[in-house]
Amino acid sequence: VPVGSMQLSSRIRDYTATFEVSDAFVADLAASSDRILVVDEGAWRCHRAGCLAALDPAEVVVLPIAEETKTLESVEALYDRMLERAAKRNMTVVSFGGGITQDITGFMASTLYRGVDWVFVPTTLLAQADSCIGSKTSLNYRHYKNLIGTFYPPSRIHIYAPFLTTQDEPDYFSGLGEVVKLHIMGGEAVASRLEAARPRLLERQPDALLTAVQDSLLIKRSYFEGDEFDTGRRNLLNFGHCFGHAIETATSFAVPHGQAVVLGMILAGMVARSRGLLSDQSERYLLERLLEPAVPSRVSLAGMRDDAVIDGMRQDKKRVGSGLAVVMATDGLEMAKAVDVTEDEAREALARFAAEYPMGR
Ligand SMILES: NC(=O)c1ccc[n+]([C@@H]2O[C@H](COP(=O)([O-])OP(=O)(O)OC[C@H]3O[C@@H](n4cnc5c(N)ncnc54)[C@H](O)[C@@H]3O)[C@@H](O)[C@H]2O)c1
Ligand SMILES: [Zn+2]
Repeated sequence: VPVGSMQLSSRIRDYTATFEVSDAFVADLAASSDRILVVDEGAWRCHRAGCLAALDPAEVVVLPIAEETKTLESVEALYDRMLERAAKRNMTVVSFGGGITQDITGFMASTLYRGVDWVFVPTTLLAQADSCIGSKTSLNYRHYKNLIGTFYPPSRIHIYAPFLTTQDEPDYFSGLGEVVKLHIMGGEAVASRLEAARPRLLERQPDALLTAVQDSLLIKRSYFEGDEFDTGRRNLLNFGHCFGHAIETATSFAVPHGQAVVLGMILAGMVARSRGLLSDQSERYLLERLLEPAVPSRVSLAGMRDDAVIDGMRQDKKRVGSGLAVVMATDGLEMAKAVDVTEDEAREALARFAAEYPMGR
């Protein structure tokens, strides 16, 4: 049974995510006083005549979206748009969009007047199921991804599944990768629920989406609450990201983030398996029921070199000590983090991976 809302706490404020069953909340947001509306250009294009029809086009600040625009310059341009609209300390920024919109508008809201009220409406699977909670805002700086940022949660989040029906396939599958990650971290019962819902998720049925998003957020919350500043348990959320980030850099970001995370979970499984922490049977279950179906066949690793992946892992900003860090799922879907993975172990996993999943190489 879907829950109506979810409470979150952080050192900055407590906040709420509300699961909406109709788009009436959009009209309520539009009617509230002292608010400035910022909408992701893609979400605006797809929904201005639909779910977002209650927003007056003359009032909407349409935000250009590309990974290259997740910069301080875009935040500055947005400050200017805010000032044109007479931004005040007591106003509310209401933003609609994906993870990029979240990062740009969240950073802007956290710094303008040292913090103005911010309401966020995530419109992508990744933003709904994962990034909207956890309080992070990040910008890219020069060629560094997510180098600068703030901890600043929205005061309210509204989640409405029908936004997701218009996402393009690569972005949707990228979000699905994070959904699969969180469901594995949630344990066997919740992971098998996801497995059963897969056909409906691929058809993007709103009820199935809502359940998967809710479960993802409940699991994510269970890992970071009480650990907002990235120590201990929260680090386990890096599952799939140790190899995953390195795959992204080694392919010059040709593999979408959430897809790289799925490949990263496959590789982490191979390390766990050779360490004797994951049985053959558990590994087959993870691969066949959860991970392989989450990678569309056209993801290509052409040109990726194992050396470049190892280099990327060495540069992991969360790494401590001399070994490589890998978060892995072990038998019974327990999570563990090893910080002493050797380069040889990582190479062995990469070699097995290249043999079993050639993916264009
Ligand atoms: N702050 C965090 O905690 C956090 C966590 C994970 C990822 N991120 C960031 O999120 C970004 C990726 O976010 P994303 O996957 O949500 O996508 P995105 O923000 O990159 O948007 C992808 C595309 O989808 C379009 N779009 C948005 N909503 C749409 C809709 N409903 N229908 C059709 N098109 C729509 C956008 O205009 C854009 O073209 C990355 O920059 C990543 O670094 C942030
Ligand atoms: Zn991620």
